[in-house]
Amino acid sequence: MQLRDLAEVFELGQQLFTAEKWPTLYRSWDDHELMAVFNGNSETCLVAVAGEKVVGFALGRIMEKPRNAWRYGWLLWLGVSPKFHRARIATRLLRRLTELFVAQEARIMLVDTDEQNRQAVSFFRRQGFGQAVRHVYLSRNLDDHPRAIERRFDGAEEDEQ
Ligand SMILES: CC(C)(COP(=O)(O)OP(=O)(O)OC[C@H]1O[C@@H](n2cnc3c(N)ncnc32)[C@H](O)[C@@H]1OP(=O)(O)O)[C@@H](O)C(=O)NCCC(=O)NCCS
Repeated sequence: MQLRDLAEVFELGQQLFTAEKWPTLYRSWDDHELMAVFNGNSETCLVAVAGEKVVGFALGRIMEKPRNAWRYGWLLWLGVSPKFHRARIATRLLRRLTELFVAQEARIMLVDTDEQNRQAVSFFRRQGFGQAVRHVYLSRNLDDHPRAIERRFDGAEEDEQ
């Protein structure tokens, strides 16, 4: 992936990672996220190109955990343009990214996605990923927090003045 691909990758990601498809907000696709991943890990960010057009991407990073000698290769975002689905583009991107991770001495590769994302889960299983670990995201509405009420109250008073 090159700097000039950023706009196309961003646009494709916006088509694929829509809010209703991705209810968990712990990771969201936005320009800051994309820039941060690309700036820190350009050598493990890949695109698939058909003609002049970007039709797929795989964005990964090497991760080291404190007090753990193992290196992990984490596939953060993978996407293929719907018109090109089931043409083995993701398979090829994943294969290349895996080679890059191995070259950087990663010993485990991690991927994650929403449990309901059937196409991604089938894809990853087909690629040999297993040992799924469930993770629960809990949320709490902070509108009732005393500070939030205070802030709304202060804002309303300012509006009146
Ligand atoms: C998941 C995704 C990347 C797969 O891309 P792709 O290029 O179509 O995948 P491939 O053609 O390499 O598929 C290889 C195999 O994975 C499985 N697979 C892929 N898409 C599937 C689907 N929609 N349903 C069931 N199995 C699927 C199949 O076993 C397939 O082999 P087959 O076509 O011979 O049956 C693509 O569907 C996508 O961009 N989804 C939206 C974004 C997303 O969910 N990203 C993943 C999390 S970041």
